[in-house]
Amino acid sequence: MNKFPQKFLWGAATSAHQVEGQNIHNDWWQAEQEHFIKETSNSACKHYELYPEDFTIAQQLNHNCHRFSIEWSRIEPIEGNFQVSEIEHYRKIIADLKNKGMEPVVTLHHFTNPLWFSQKGGWTKLKLQKYFLRFVDKMVREFADQVKFWITINEPLVYSTHSYLLGVWPPGEHSLFKTAKVTLNLASAHIKAYRIIHQIYRQKNLQEPRVSIAANLQAFEICRPTLKNRFAAYLRDRVYNFYFIEVLLRKKTLDYIGVNYYGRNLADARSWRIRHLLLDTCQDNHYPLRKNFLGWDIYPQGLFKLLISLKKYNLDVLITENGVCTLEDTLRWDYIREHLKELSRAINCGVRVIGYIYWSLIDNFEWAEGFAPRFGLVQMDYQSYKRTIRPSAEKLAEVIKNGEI
Ligand code: GAL
Repeated sequence: MNKFPQKFLWGAATSAHQVEGQNIHNDWWQAEQEHFIKETSNSACKHYELYPEDFTIAQQLNHNCHRFSIEWSRIEPIEGNFQVSEIEHYRKIIADLKNKGMEPVVTLHHFTNPLWFSQKGGWTKLKLQKYFLRFVDKMVREFADQVKFWITINEPLVYSTHSYLLGVWPPGEHSLFKTAKVTLNLASAHIKAYRIIHQIYRQKNLQEPRVSIAANLQAFEICRPTLKNRFAAYLRDRVYNFYFIEVLLRKKTLDYIGVNYYGRNLADARSWRIRHLLLDTCQDNHYPLRKNFLGWDIYPQGLFKLLISLKKYNLDVLITENGVCTLEDTLRWDYIREHLKELSRAINCGVRVIGYIYWSLIDNFEWAEGFAPRFGLVQMDYQSYKRTIRPSAEKLAEVIKNGEI
């Protein structure tokens, strides 16, 4: 049996566009209407209306924290036009969480942008970053006294590569140059947002907040042990896992490290061209592992290795996402159990992990993949919007109750 630390944060995550429904003022909604994205998010999980029910379920499952995002395009659907009623909506969300004994972990950017912002050029233009910072400033002033944990930007590199390199997310571009630019602009936005957030807490005489990003970390490994593949895996590890974090660390703008971990990426580069070194993955089954519904390799040991590699930064680590999409709930429980064991092993080796947030509380709109992948601890019936707790959720609730696995 492995014990988890006292006061460990246990919870699940969502993001606004994936669960709320009717986020009609953002760039994703637009791309969905134009059929650039195969399904439309539509009413999603109706979480915008049904959040009290979802939070009651999370409470029943013994969660003591919950991660969600504030949808910028709801707050500011038109440039400069801030919606008081929407600010009040998120105030109610935070109050409901607190009443139900859950610490809010608030994300300020989770992939979507207000349409007006993206039409101006979005994150490709450094000068537009002031709009995001204005939104951050407003939200933090509103909620500082209720919120301790902030995540400025979710998976900056996943956003920049999917939207500007692979072209599978809006605006669907294929430019290495723009990808690099967007990545740097996101880094600089985080650095400034971090300083704004801390300054507001100081002005308000509040206890220091805890600010980070949610970094997507992958276990980069190789299939064929060639020099090219070894270099590709090394490069990916540096670029995707550590580059962004290290830029922010040098600027002293991470209070903890938010880690999203799903599994393994098996490098198999077709050539020495940078694109191939950074992107090509093995399509054969050299080392077959269990896979999730989307075909991603399940690889719990990778979490341990990555956590150990974060030890040198001497910061707290919060698992801000870890989860599996599957139609077999027994696989979900295996996934959670095995990852929690690796997590606990890392804690025993001195990694300061302060919490585990599963992705996701409820099945939801999985971006370009639509509604088919089922990540939820809670099953969603998209006809009736009925929520059903899965057995894996009950098992996790038991672990939380006992504080050990
Ligand atoms: C993350 C993302 C989430 C969710 C999850 C599952 O990259 O932050 O929004 O979609 O992956 O794929």
